[in-house]
Amino acid sequence: MEVKTSLLDNMIGVGDMVLLEPLTEDSFLENLKKRFDHNEIYTYIGSVVISLNPYRSLPIYTPDKVEEYRNRNFYELSPHIYALADEAYRSLRDQDKDQCILITGESGAGKTEASKLVMSYVAAVCGKGQEVNKVKEQLLQSNPVLEAFGNAKTVRNDNSSRFGKYMDIEFDFKGDPLGGVISNYLLEKSRVVKQPRGERNFHIFYQLLSGASDDTLKKLKLERDFSKYNYLSLDSATVSGLDDAANFRTVRNAMQIVGFMEDEMQSVLELVAAVLKLGNIEFKPESRCNGMDESRIKDKNDLKEMCELLGTEQSVLERAFSYRTVEAKMEKVSTTLNVAQAYYARDALAKNLYSRLFSWLVTRINESIKAQAKTRHKVMGVLDIYGFEIFEDNSFEQFIINYCNEKLQQIFIELTLREEQEEYIREGIEWTNIEYFNNAVICDLIENNQNGILAMLDEECLRPGTVTDETFLDKLNTICADHQHFESRLSKNSKFLNDHSLPHNCFRIQHYAGKVLYRVEGFVDKNNDLLYRDLSQAMYKANHSLIKQLFPEGNPAKVNLKRPPTAGFQFKASVGTLMSNLQSKNPNYIRCIKPNDKKASHVFNGSLVCHQARYLGLMENVRVRRAGYAFRQAYEPCLERYKMLCKKTWPHWKGRARQGVEVLMTDLQVPAEEFSYGRSKIFIRNPRTLFFLEEKRKQCLEDLATLIQKIYKGWKCRSHFLLLKKSQVVVASWFRRYAQQKKYQKIKHATTMVQSYTRGWQARKLLRKLKYQKKCEEAVTTIAAFWHGTQVRREYRKFFRANAGKKIYNFTIQRIMQKYFLGLKSKLPSMSPIDKTWPARPYSFLDGVHAELRRIFHLWRCKKYRSQFTEEKKAVYEEKLEASELFKDKKALYPSSVRQPFKGDYLEISKNPKYQKLSSAVDEKILLADVVNKINRANGKGSSRLFLLTKKNVVLADQKTGQLKANVPLADLASVSTSTQTDGFFALKLKEGSASAVKGDFLLSSDHLIEIITKLHRIGSMAADREKLNIDISDEFLVQFKQDKVCVKFIQGSPKNGNSVSCKRKNNRLLEVSVPASS
Ligand SMILES: Nc1ncnc2c1ncn2[C@@H]1O[C@H](COP(=O)(O)OP(=O)(O)OP(=O)(O)O)[C@@H](O)[C@H]1O
Ligand SMILES: [Mg+2]
Repeated sequence: MEVKTSLLDNMIGVGDMVLLEPLTEDSFLENLKKRFDHNEIYTYIGSVVISLNPYRSLPIYTPDKVEEYRNRNFYELSPHIYALADEAYRSLRDQDKDQCILITGESGAGKTEASKLVMSYVAAVCGKGQEVNKVKEQLLQSNPVLEAFGNAKTVRNDNSSRFGKYMDIEFDFKGDPLGGVISNYLLEKSRVVKQPRGERNFHIFYQLLSGASDDTLKKLKLERDFSKYNYLSLDSATVSGLDDAANFRTVRNAMQIVGFMEDEMQSVLELVAAVLKLGNIEFKPESRCNGMDESRIKDKNDLKEMCELLGTEQSVLERAFSYRTVEAKMEKVSTTLNVAQAYYARDALAKNLYSRLFSWLVTRINESIKAQAKTRHKVMGVLDIYGFEIFEDNSFEQFIINYCNEKLQQIFIELTLREEQEEYIREGIEWTNIEYFNNAVICDLIENNQNGILAMLDEECLRPGTVTDETFLDKLNTICADHQHFESRLSKNSKFLNDHSLPHNCFRIQHYAGKVLYRVEGFVDKNNDLLYRDLSQAMYKANHSLIKQLFPEGNPAKVNLKRPPTAGFQFKASVGTLMSNLQSKNPNYIRCIKPNDKKASHVFNGSLVCHQARYLGLMENVRVRRAGYAFRQAYEPCLERYKMLCKKTWPHWKGRARQGVEVLMTDLQVPAEEFSYGRSKIFIRNPRTLFFLEEKRKQCLEDLATLIQKIYKGWKCRSHFLLLKKSQVVVASWFRRYAQQKKYQKIKHATTMVQSYTRGWQARKLLRKLKYQKKCEEAVTTIAAFWHGTQVRREYRKFFRANAGKKIYNFTIQRIMQKYFLGLKSKLPSMSPIDKTWPARPYSFLDGVHAELRRIFHLWRCKKYRSQFTEEKKAVYEEKLEASELFKDKKALYPSSVRQPFKGDYLEISKNPKYQKLSSAVDEKILLADVVNKINRANGKGSSRLFLLTKKNVVLADQKTGQLKANVPLADLASVSTSTQTDGFFALKLKEGSASAVKGDFLLSSDHLIEIITKLHRIGSMAADREKLNIDISDEFLVQFKQDKVCVKFIQGSPKNGNSVSCKRKNNRLLEVSVPASS
C-alpha cells in the first residue's frame, strides 16, 4: 500500500483550494467537480473543510479510516472530515484549547451527517472504559431522539433538521468525554400545523403511528391511519428509504439509553398524540344575539379524547377555544373568538405544545448527559445549524435563519482573520492588511438595538394601536431606507421605485450570500408568538405533570402582565450567547455543499454549487487565506519533503531544520519575496512556488527512483552474478569431482582389465609353458620309457622274443582277473541260497569261469547255510534231500511234500497210554509213527492202521486197540511201489519166500507217503547188512496178494470221484485206483 506523507501526494485537482492557480471561480468549481467526480468529496481551504454531499454511502468512514487519520497531521493525508475532527480533538486534548466545529451549508448539504461523523470519530479515538463508553453512547444516542422530534422531510432533504443545534461535548484532562450540553435554536414549529406541498410533519408523528404497538396506540387513543389526522400531510406520508416503524423502535431504544423513564416516554407520546388530536378539532360559526360570530366545536369527540389524554377538563379547554380574556390594569375583559380566531388559537396551542415539548426534551437530555464531575472541562462544541435559505417565498423564519447565518459568517471571517493574524504574529511574520468583505454591516442592519430590523419588529409588536405587517414594513421603509443592504419598493430610496422584482409587501436584504426577498406577512404574528392566556391556563390546569411543566405561565398565582419576550428578541439573544460562546473557542469549519437539487449521487450541478460557494463566501475564504502567504509548512516536514532538491541537504541534513530549509531555498534560487521564514514554519507566498518545488521534487524523485532502481538493479545483478559465480564454482567443483571420479573408475576398470588380460596372458603363457614343460617331461618320460624300453628290449631282445608275449599276456590276464575278481567281490549277491541273482560277466572269455564261480559261490553259500544246521536238522534235510532224489520229477505228489517237515512221530505212542502195550512190544526207537490206510485186498477199501517204523521193522497195528497186526523186518522188504501221481498209495513188496511174505504184499495209503518211503529207503541204504531198497515208481505194478498177483493200476479219476482217491477191485487181477487229476 502506498504510504502518504502529504496532502500534496497524488492529488486529484488540488486538495487545498489555497493552491489553486489561477484562483478564479471557474477553476474553483472545476477543482471541486474534478474531485467530486473522483469521489473526493472533501477539499480544504487552509484548515476549512469543504464537504460535498455524495448522496450515497462511500467506503471512507470505516474503522480502518479512523485508524488511518488518527494522530496524523492535518495536511498529511487526503482531505477528510476525520482529519479536521482529529486536529480539533488533539488540540483540545494536548493543547488544552476549547474547540468548536462550525458546520454550515444549505438544507440537505450534509451538516447533520457531518456533525455525526465528527462525533463518531471523536468517540472512536477518545478513551475507553465502562463509564466513558456509557457517556459516549448517551451523547451519540441523543441524536436519533432529537432527529425524530426536530427533523422532517422537506423538498430539499428527507431528514431536514428543523431546528438549530449546538452541542458542547465536555472532556476531562485526558480527553475522555464527561458529558455534554445541547442548545437548540428556533424549532420550525409552524410545520406542526401546516406543511408545504411535498413535505411532511416532524418524523415522530409518522413513526408513532407506524411503529407503536396496537396496545400503545389504543392507550393513546390513536388509529394507525395517517389520513385520520388533519395535521399530517398525506401526499408524502411515506418516504422511500425511510422506515418509520423501525426508526420508532430506534428512538425508543435511544430514549432508554439516554435515560428517559418509562413514564416520561409515555408522557411524551401522550403529548404527541394530543397534538394530533388537537389538529382534528374543528370549529363552526354560531351567530350570537349581539350580532357577533362565535365559534363552536363541531365534533367534541376528539376534544374529549385529547382532554382525557392530557387530563384536562373538557369544559375548560372548550371555553379557552371560545373566549379570550385580556387583562389590563386589573381589569379582565373576555371576548368571544370567531372561527378564524378559534383555529388560530388551536394551531397556536398545537405549535406551542410541540415546540415546548421539544425544548423540554432537550432539557431532559441535557439532564442525562451533563457532566457529573465538577472539575474544569475542556469543551468541543459542534454546531449544526440550518443553512442560509433563499426560497421563493421567504418569511419570518428565513429571516431569522439567515440572520443567524450572517452572524456565523461574521464570526467565521473574524476568527479566520484572527487566526491568520495570530499565526503571523506567532511566527514573527509581518502582517499585511487583507482586503475582505465584512458583513458586520448586514448584521447591524438586522440586530442593531436602535434601528435594526428586529428592533423595529419588536417595537411594532409592542406598540399599542393597530399593528399589522404593513405598518411594520412602513416602519422599515422609513428607518432602513438608507441602508445600502436594504431594499424596498416603498422606501425613500427612489432607486427601487421601478424595481418590479420587488413586490410592495416585501423587503429585500442583500445578504453576504445574496439578495433575499422577504414577505412581511406573518412577521408580526410570528414574532409575537402569542398563545392566549386562557389556553396556557387551561394547559396548566391539566392533570398531567409534563403539560404543567410546559406551561408555567398558566399558573394563575404567577400571572405576569408583562408581555413575554418576542421570538425575534429571544432568538437574537440566544444567537448572541452562541456567538460569544463560539468566539471563546478555537473554530474549525466544515462548509457543506449540496451538489444537486435531486438528492442524486454523481450529479454535479455547477450553477447550484457556484451559488452555494458564493454565499458561503468560499472564494473570499481562499483569498483571505492567500492574501499573505498561500502555503505554510513547518520546517521539519518541509525539509523532509524537499531535501532531495539540494545536494547539501540530501540525504541527511545534520543541522537544524530551519537552516536546512534556508540552504535548500538558497540553493534552489527561489526569489526572496516568494517566501518568508517564520519561527517554526516557512511561508510561501504563491502556490506557483510550491508547485515549482513540487515539480522539482517529482522530477528529482523520478531521478532518485531511477538512481535507486539503477543501484538496486546493479546490486541485484551483481548479487545474482556473484551467486551464479559461487554456484558455478560449486557446480564446477562437483562436476570435476564427478568427472574425475568417473575417469578414475574408468582407469581403474581399464587397469583391472589390462591387468586381468595381462595376468590371463601371463597365466596362459605360463600354462602353455607348463603344459609344454609337462609335455616335454612326458615326452622325456615317454622317450625315456621308450628309450628304456628300447634299451631293455635291445638288451632283453633275446629273452623278450621267447617270453615277453606270454608274460605280457599273463600280466594282462592277471590284471584283468584281478579287476574281475575285485569287481565280483564287491558285487556278490546275498548269502541266501535261493537268491538267483549273479553279476553279469564282463568278458565273454570268462563265461565258463563266471558260471563256475556262480556255482561255487552257490555251493559255498549252501554249505555256509548248511553249516549252521544242528545234527537233527541236518538229518531232516538229508532226508529231504533223499526224498528229492527219490521222487523229484517222478511222482506228482512230491512237490506238495517239500514244505511238510518230516516229523517222524505223528502219534507220540509212548506218551499215549492206549498204545502202551504196543510201545513196549516195539523195543527199538520208533523212527516213524503214523496212521495209514491198509487197502483191503478183496474190495480195495481201506482200514486205518498204526504204521510204525524202526531201524529194523515195519509194524502195523490196530489204530483203536494198538494191537499188533503185522511186524515186517525191513530185511524182508524187496521193494516199494508207488504211482507217479498225487495219491498216497504205496505197496510194500516182500521178498518172496520171506516169512513175512506169507500174507502177501501190503498195499497202504498214507498222507506221508514221501516221508515213509524216504525213511524206508534211508534205513535200507544205511544198513550195511542189507541191500538197497528198490523204489519202483510207476502207474501199474503188481502186488502179491497171497497167491494172486494183482495189478494195481492208477488212472486219472473222473470228476465224479471228487477229489478223493478211490480204489476199487476190478477183478482178480486188477485193482484200480482212480486218482483225481492234478491241477
Ligand atoms: N457524507 C455523506 N455521505 C453519504 N450521504 C450523505 C453524507 N452527507 C449527507 N448525506 C446524505 O444527504 C442527506 C442530507 O444530509 P443532512 O441531513 O446532513 O443535511 P443537512 O445539511 O443537515 O440538511 P438540513 O439543513 O436540512 O438539516 C442525508 O440524509 C444523507 O442521505
Ligand atoms: Mg440537518
